[in-house]
Amino acid sequence: MKNDIHNRTDIILLVDTFYGKVQQNIKIGPIFTNVAKVDWAHHLPKMYDFWESILFGKAIYKGNPMLVHFSLNDKTPLHTEEFETWKNIFFNTVDDLFEGENADLIKQKAQSIADLMHFKINSPQPTIKIV
Ligand code: HEM
Repeated sequence: MKNDIHNRTDIILLVDTFYGKVQQNIKIGPIFTNVAKVDWAHHLPKMYDFWESILFGKAIYKGNPMLVHFSLNDKTPLHTEEFETWKNIFFNTVDDLFEGENADLIKQKAQSIADLMHFKINSPQPTIKIV
């Protein structure tokens, strides 16, 4: 029987393990390391805040993930394959480490944010005409 996700220490384990696998992944690893050239010492604590805010309702994350991924998509396309890969790694990491209500909830949240992000990035933008 695995533990559920109870606190920031658990989130840190999840996030560190997730991004460890992401960096090794042939499909999306290079987006982080070569395209965005992520500064991990900066990115990881931001992601601890993000998931703590999402899961435990603490308003500690300040940022706009949609905008960040819009501009990333301008550098390298984020399509179904990239999102499916991201979700698979995230779900597998959660399932490897945890089980319980919060483990289920964080997967649901990840799924809905990923699907919304995917939809917004890949929907044609309406053209505004000023007459
Ligand atoms: C195709 C899938 C995805 C890719 C390739 C991707 C990649 C990235 C990269 C490269 C960054 C920028 C890091 C930096 O410059 O420091 C980033 C930031 C971030 N990502 Fe993603 N991401 C993906 C999906 C998601 C999803 C589904 C979520 C949420 C569930 C998410 C949440 C975030 C957050 C919160 C940030 C930090 C934004 C900020 O600067 O405040 N990402 N992502």
